[in-house]
Amino acid sequence: MELAAFLTNLERLAVEAEQAFQTANDAVAVENARVQYVGARSGQMKSLQKEMGSLAALDRPAGGKKLNEVKQRIQSALDGAVARASTQPTAALGPKLDPTLPGRRIRLGHLHPITQTIEHLKQIMGRLGFGVAEGPEVEDTWHNFVALNIPEDHPARDPLDNFYLSVAEQTAIDNVGANARLLRSQTSTVQIRVMESTAPPIRIISLGRVYRPDEADATHFPMFHQMEGLWIDRHVTMAQLKSVLRMFATNYLGGDVSIRFRPSFFPFTEPSVEVDFLWNGNWIEFGGAGMVDPNVLSAVGYDSEQVTGFAFGLGVERLCMRRHGVLDIRDLYRNDLRFLQQF
Ligand code: FA5
Repeated sequence: MELAAFLTNLERLAVEAEQAFQTANDAVAVENARVQYVGARSGQMKSLQKEMGSLAALDRPAGGKKLNEVKQRIQSALDGAVARASTQPTAALGPKLDPTLPGRRIRLGHLHPITQTIEHLKQIMGRLGFGVAEGPEVEDTWHNFVALNIPEDHPARDPLDNFYLSVAEQTAIDNVGANARLLRSQTSTVQIRVMESTAPPIRIISLGRVYRPDEADATHFPMFHQMEGLWIDRHVTMAQLKSVLRMFATNYLGGDVSIRFRPSFFPFTEPSVEVDFLWNGNWIEFGGAGMVDPNVLSAVGYDSEQVTGFAFGLGVERLCMRRHGVLDIRDLYRNDLRFLQQF
């Protein structure tokens, strides 16, 4: 081949390849151009390179020089195209971004149904003038029993009915005796803590976890929540207790709720009642209540001749279950998202 023709062919290839790499706007187009121009087997560069052999020996240095120059130009055009394509989406690998498509929704979590219930109960009782108090879940026997008029030999203190904590430096007797610590079995402990630190009048609720070694079944769980209520003032009466609980029940469960008190016994209230709500035709027990026993008022240093009060303790899970039609308390604690997502 003539040198002039060889040089012209090389120049044409360089211009063509530079153009191809410049217009290749994604990785697939760049790869196609690379194969066409500098592919090791059938690239156009390869075939031109072979034609070097047909040049006259004298012309080969000039031909080789041009060949190297063209190789470099094509390589740098290829490098530039590869760099550009790496920042572009690949058209041939999938559809282009369609900004008119509806977005994919991110699933947000939400509060556990019992937490939602607690917030709801606080709102309702807040509207009735009750503030919120809190107390510890690990208690001493004074607050869980003694100040609540439950003396040392009372069956409610039985180790089989409570979660006593074993404290290393104590003896086995101490672990259930006067110095024992336990997971509180009722939120009535908070009544004592509030009265110890506050002068009457008092109007609070306290919501939190309590623990009992109860066998789990459809309506019992070893850890559950109670809402304690306490109203202490001059001349507080049982009629007010009934009105407050009726207003609460109507607000939380709806207008068709009736309320019933059944005589009962709690060491810390006298008289004591079980509180039932009539709902959808059935009477259901939700908790206990009564007038605060004078012994409890004395234990916290109140003058039981001057003040009276009522207290109540309701099961939060049972309230939540009734409102939402949950039939088994264990469903609330199985952590099955298919169940929890319904709330
Ligand atoms: C008490 O715990 C008293 N402290 C209530 C009280 C407070 C009376 C203030 C007087 C004055 P009782 O043990 O009945 O009472 O429990 C109250 C409610 O807690 C029950 O009616 C029930 O709704 C709920 N409850 C009791 N045990 C469980 C359990 N294992 N699982 C779920 N809920 C329970």
